[in-house]
Amino acid sequence: MKRMQNVHRQGCKPGVFVQRNTEIEKKAGKSSRKSFLRRTDRFIAFVFSLVFLQTVWSAGEDPESRIDLPESLAQWYKPVNQRQVWLHTMFSLRRALQAIDEYAAAEDGEHVRKWARILDEKYRKLGEMVPEWEDRLDMKRLEALLKAVSTDEFARIRKDAKAVGKQCVSCHQDYQALAALKFRTPDFSEIELIEGMPDSRYPDFMKRLSRTVNRIRIAAEDDRWKAAGEAGYRLEDELGLLSHSCIQCHKERDPYERIFGGKTRKAFTDLQRAIAREDLKKLRMSLGEAAVLACARCHSLHKLNSDLKRRLFP
Ligand code: HEC
Ligand code: HEC
Ligand code: HEC
Repeated sequence: MKRMQNVHRQGCKPGVFVQRNTEIEKKAGKSSRKSFLRRTDRFIAFVFSLVFLQTVWSAGEDPESRIDLPESLAQWYKPVNQRQVWLHTMFSLRRALQAIDEYAAAEDGEHVRKWARILDEKYRKLGEMVPEWEDRLDMKRLEALLKAVSTDEFARIRKDAKAVGKQCVSCHQDYQALAALKFRTPDFSEIELIEGMPDSRYPDFMKRLSRTVNRIRIAAEDDRWKAAGEAGYRLEDELGLLSHSCIQCHKERDPYERIFGGKTRKAFTDLQRAIAREDLKKLRMSLGEAAVLACARCHSLHKLNSDLKRRLFP
């Protein structure tokens, strides 16, 4: 429960605003030693706090107002771009930093220079790709590193590379999770299980599926095995539809198999067998097992992210 509350709190991100407020207060407090001015500054800080609170408050209706991912980032992701260019630039940066560090440790100047050129090029490119983020780059640290590279000062190189790496973290803390959610997470609310049938969209379909699953359990608990059998057939049909929907996004069968293969298939088979044998104990067990393996696992993968994305980027 405690853990869930934490997750919930992080989801609302109040920490960020508290931090920003204290920053302003700190700045305001530092700007003058005179108490009158401090009071004025405090008043200004107070007004700012109100403005921030207002922002947080209204964020309930318009969460986008507190999430300012730069617009130009979109062009480096699907569907505007063929590839996830931003993400792959990031992978290059990480690779270059690692190579520089490892070759510097081995005092291999030639390879250090090769990877430093790549780092230099890709790091500068970030500012061209997303001009709104230009001020998030630390060119001074990069220049310091490049200088150490040009003079083969290996200990320095490793120190400066570490410093450049530290700088990456600040942007990540603010934006990494948001960018992944916004640009790389599918929103399922419009996905139709049967194409061309709006009432077969995921949210509606899921409600039906959930009712079918519970109908089996309710009927079995009340010894109405014929009704349980009918709901069992219905479940088969619905699972067929559901598994067919994976193909809309997954070209390969593997992701489907990871959720619906092996143990999951066995759990659903056991469930149908328990219905046929009117075995309540087995039915409870297999139904619970199937719900965890199929429903809960897919939810933690797809539903949670889809819900979060819709909440943050409506
Ligand atoms: C693709 C993997 C996937 C599988 C497998 C899956 N679900 Fe879902 N489910 C989702 C997604 C995605 C949503 C969110 C849909 C939305 O609201 O956009 C969802 C939503 C739901 C909801 C909430 C519906 C609502 O809006 O009130 C229920 C209930 C539900 N699923 C039940 C089930 C049950 C029961 C099973 C197993 C028999 C199951 N799901 C299997 C992906 C899955
Ligand atoms: C101006 C902002 C910014 C800066 C500076 C930045 N990044 Fe990133 N980085 C991002 C964003 C946004 C993502 C999320 C991309 C996504 O998930 O699609 C990301 C993701 C990554 C990832 C992917 C992590 C993963 O495994 O999913 C790596 C690796 C990475 N960055 C490395 C670096 C390195 C190394 C540096 C510094 C040399 C750096 N980044 C500097 C914004 C930045
Ligand atoms: C709306 C598009 C969409 C639908 C529909 C969809 N997925 Fe996914 N799924 C994705 C995306 C995007 C990823 C992340 C892939 C990545 O980042 O590499 C993913 C990842 C996964 C993964 C983890 C990666 C892997 O290959 O194991 C599994 C498992 C998975 N999906 C199962 C399913 C199943 C099962 C269904 C159908 C019940 C389904 N998905 C339906 C888009 C979708």
